[in-house]
Amino acid sequence: MKIFFILALAWHVSTADDPCHPCHCINQNIACSNSGLTAVPTSTFRNLPNAKSYQMLDLSNNNISDLPQDAFANLAIQTILLNNVSLVSMHLNAFLSVSTNLTELQIADNKIKTIPTALEKLKVLQKLDIRNNPIVGSEFDDKVFQSLGNTLKEFHFGSPTISQWPLTLTHFPKLEVLDMDGSKIQWLPFTAFHGFEFTLKNLTIRNTELFQVPQAISSLVHLQTLNFDNNVNVGDNGILASAFTNPDDVSGSSSITHLSLKNNSLTTMPSVLRKLTRLQTLEMDNNQMWYISDNSVINIQSKNLSDLSLQNCNLDRIPHSLLRLSSLKSLDLTGNRIHSIELNDISQHNMTKLYLSNNPVEYVSDDAFRNMPDMTEISFAGSKLKHLPHALMNIMTSLKTINLDGCDVECTCDLTWFSGKIDLNRIQIIGDCETIEKSVEDYMIQRVPKCPP
Ligand SMILES: *[C@@H]1O[C@H](CO)[C@@H](O)[C@H](O)[C@H]1NC(C)=O
Ligand SMILES: *[C@@H]1O[C@H](CO)[C@@H](O)[C@H](O)[C@H]1NC(C)=O
Ligand SMILES: *[C@@H]1O[C@H](CO)[C@@H](O)[C@H](O)[C@H]1NC(C)=O
Ligand SMILES: *[C@@H]1O[C@H](CO)[C@@H](O)[C@H](O)[C@H]1NC(C)=O
Ligand SMILES: *[C@@H]1O[C@H](CO)[C@@H](O)[C@H](O)[C@H]1NC(C)=O
Ligand SMILES: *[C@@H]1O[C@H](CO)[C@@H](O)[C@H](O)[C@H]1NC(C)=O
Ligand SMILES: *[C@@H]1O[C@H](CO)[C@@H](O)[C@H](O)[C@H]1NC(C)=O
Repeated sequence: MKIFFILALAWHVSTADDPCHPCHCINQNIACSNSGLTAVPTSTFRNLPNAKSYQMLDLSNNNISDLPQDAFANLAIQTILLNNVSLVSMHLNAFLSVSTNLTELQIADNKIKTIPTALEKLKVLQKLDIRNNPIVGSEFDDKVFQSLGNTLKEFHFGSPTISQWPLTLTHFPKLEVLDMDGSKIQWLPFTAFHGFEFTLKNLTIRNTELFQVPQAISSLVHLQTLNFDNNVNVGDNGILASAFTNPDDVSGSSSITHLSLKNNSLTTMPSVLRKLTRLQTLEMDNNQMWYISDNSVINIQSKNLSDLSLQNCNLDRIPHSLLRLSSLKSLDLTGNRIHSIELNDISQHNMTKLYLSNNPVEYVSDDAFRNMPDMTEISFAGSKLKHLPHALMNIMTSLKTINLDGCDVECTCDLTWFSGKIDLNRIQIIGDCETIEKSVEDYMIQRVPKCPP
């Protein structure tokens, strides 16, 4: 009772003391998300000491249908998050006091039907997220976009109401990051990226009805990252080689270093990888690959590929063809159907991370993982392993993390062989024993030393 009283008192004092109430002041942030707000707490901001020292205001996940005039008076905030607040409208001068301070605005997952003219007043806005609003038509307001174009570097849009590429994007000559998330668009014009061919570095196109990688991508001279995910109409024939031909590179090789092609109904490594000689990261998760042939891996021409992710690709063994990728540092095979790890399945000398989580692995050859002196992390989480594989000895000098989470490890005195050889101060073992209510690590530290020699 007494404790309850003290706690209640402490709670009372702390909320009353919080000058951001009903929000919370956390360092330079004003945190108001999930607070059941039905309006912007303008009076709180007006009375806030040092109001101009705050940098971020998070109002997400509330019920704020309208932004009135000068909703952020007294603040000089740089980032405002207003995602998922049932926002319908905003006053033309909603951002009056912060118009020369606001650099990032997120208004995703709302009910806005036209691009708000209030955005025209934002003089220094660099990042805008308007995803998943029922914006009607495909031509976003010319005048608003022209005005935003003076400063905008990052733009996120997309919703099921969009069925044509918005050509008004041409007003964004400084754009570096573009993200279209969701649309009924099936085709992009060749001029889609006109206006920012030389500035765009990151392009994301996801959850669309496109049938092909758009040709227009070849106009992006300095593109580094292409995330082309969840476009399930695409398939193998939709990964067009011509989309990756960089007009500015005489050798015809692409500038792309990071490529993601998740969930595009692919069955093989696309031959266009030949052109991606600078590739460092390749993600092909959620495609039905079944197996990966030598011929398809030969397409990977980059000598620099360090990260490969093949999650949920229906692979029933570690494809031997991957051994060709000698520069690999990280290989993610989470969520496949791999039962066993054989002697020569994997041996890339520079490998540091290997993820085999959520595979039905039950056998690991004692001689696996040889000649991999830099391995720091290995995961068998969610597998059928009941024992620590002896092969771990082959990588023990460099290893830092062994993940056996969800693996029902049989903790018995048999583990003596293992704990005698490892330094538990350096290596973290994640996972619990099946036989006793303890973590594997605690068992090794507390019980194994008491086992008979
Ligand atoms: C949206 O906000 C409401 C609260 O207004 C919350 O219950 C809901 O979980 C939020 N949705 C998402 C996707 O965050
Ligand atoms: C949000 O507020 C409106 C009234 O402004 C109300 O009709 C609606 O039910 C509220 N929605 C939620 C999720 O509370
Ligand atoms: C906000 O903008 C004004 C006008 O440009 C400027 O004087 C002030 O320094 C800015 N404040 C912050 C915290 O950036
Ligand atoms: C752009 O791509 C790089 C990887 O090439 C990534 O690290 C970065 O977070 C991306 N930036 C944005 C804003 O998406
Ligand atoms: C693949 O993309 C489709 C379309 O966006 C989506 O509905 C589905 O959930 C995605 N699947 C996975 C595994 O991400
Ligand atoms: C290889 O990748 C490194 C960064 O990991 C980069 O500095 C280097 O320029 C790349 N080499 C080539 C030939 O692309
Ligand atoms: C392994 O890494 C070293 C040092 O970064 C590098 O010199 C060597 O070329 C790499 N090996 C392969 C096969 O990429």
